[in-house]
Amino acid sequence: MTRQPTPEFPSSFVWGTATAAYQIEGAVAEDGRGPSIWDEFCDRPGVVVGGDTGAVAADHYHRWESDIELMKDLGLDAYRLSLSWSRILPTGSGAVNAKGLDFYDRLIDRLCSVGIAPAVTLFHWDLPLALQEQGGWMNRDTSYRLGEYAQVVGERLSDRVGMWMPLNEPVVHTLYGHALGVHAPGLALGFEAFQAAHHQLLGHGLAVEALRATGCTNIGIASNHAPVRAASDSPEDVMAADIYDHVVNWMFADPVLVGKYPADEFAQLLSGPVDEDLKIIGAPLDWYGINYYEPTMIAAPVEGQGTEGVLEVDLPPGLPFAPVAITGYPTTDFGWPIVPEGLGEILRTFRARFGDALPPIYITESGCSFHDAPDAAGVVEDEVRIDYHDAHLRALRSAMDDGVDVRGYFVWSLLDNFEWAAGYKERFGLVHVDFDTQKRTPKTSFEWYRALIAEHKSAQ
Ligand code: NOJ
Repeated sequence: MTRQPTPEFPSSFVWGTATAAYQIEGAVAEDGRGPSIWDEFCDRPGVVVGGDTGAVAADHYHRWESDIELMKDLGLDAYRLSLSWSRILPTGSGAVNAKGLDFYDRLIDRLCSVGIAPAVTLFHWDLPLALQEQGGWMNRDTSYRLGEYAQVVGERLSDRVGMWMPLNEPVVHTLYGHALGVHAPGLALGFEAFQAAHHQLLGHGLAVEALRATGCTNIGIASNHAPVRAASDSPEDVMAADIYDHVVNWMFADPVLVGKYPADEFAQLLSGPVDEDLKIIGAPLDWYGINYYEPTMIAAPVEGQGTEGVLEVDLPPGLPFAPVAITGYPTTDFGWPIVPEGLGEILRTFRARFGDALPPIYITESGCSFHDAPDAAGVVEDEVRIDYHDAHLRALRSAMDDGVDVRGYFVWSLLDNFEWAAGYKERFGLVHVDFDTQKRTPKTSFEWYRALIAEHKSAQ
């Protein structure tokens, strides 16, 4: 199939890929790493598809050098990785594990030496278990521990990291991990989980302060956002969609970008000096990262009608909104609708909502899972993934043409990896990983992305 050339992007546009520590590293008991909530969660029967765990994952802890060779071959400008908090501070606080910090020091040095800018996430959902035993994100003290961890890391790495983000997708960690209990730490607290959201946001603010104090620059956040569509024009559906939009989008973006919660009702659900905290949470950022996957469609709840099969998880009854399936689009093998224009839509919505308060944006994740496997010749043909990224880049470019300042695109993910509660079945990588042998096979999407990056560089 002949593909139209990808539209042009500015020469400074950053081409990247993203991963996270627990999803790729393995080596969970090596070199002094302490346990995290995901180690504990995966040991519970029935919570992860196939009983999979991140104990070995893509074995990146031992294969990081050859993985960087792959990145070099790809021609990346930047590589987004997360640090494992419990590798660096095994109990989340206090004594630093030198071997853990040394690992990241070497990795980051190597990335810099091959011309790839490290983009570092501090917390990608793998809280040290010792902190969970003291209440985790429901305990305000955890926010200060994130600040402490940021200081330790900033002191060591400030001179070499190109982009920093204390948090990844606090909305998903709050809803799946604390409200619904389908991710670690497995708490099903319903609306009480807002307190865990607030503490993550406070931790973000304290970590930003600590990073700046240690000389780090270029600090942002990676937050999951998606357009919320009402199932119909009825006032009930429109109202339900609006509530949901506030819970999943503005509850997280407003405090960070404009220092307030989108509605007084949110602040009233929280304990602590919320107004004071919001001053810390809302300190200016250098950029804002959006992870985009799919829009959500919301209707008013209908008694007796559940949400089975709509999201990855069924919602409890009694909520003021009900997700409904989005039809009329192709889906990934994970069942997520492929809606590239949703990316343009959320970018334009951000621009309209925040105006000049919106710093430059990076797409810190975009990607799709297909159940790829090598063919008889050993080739992993994933034309569908190429189509996916191609279409999302076009949607992104069109939002840029409409005035949204987007500075880069990070493909989720470099490697197939541990997809949380969905285990290893879901494959998002540009590189196929055989989890029995750890063999890496670049997919055809890898070749496509390499050519695209090279073409944009040669045009400069
Ligand atoms: C967002 C998360 O940050 C990442 O960890 C996950 O694997 C991808 N979405 C795909 O679900």
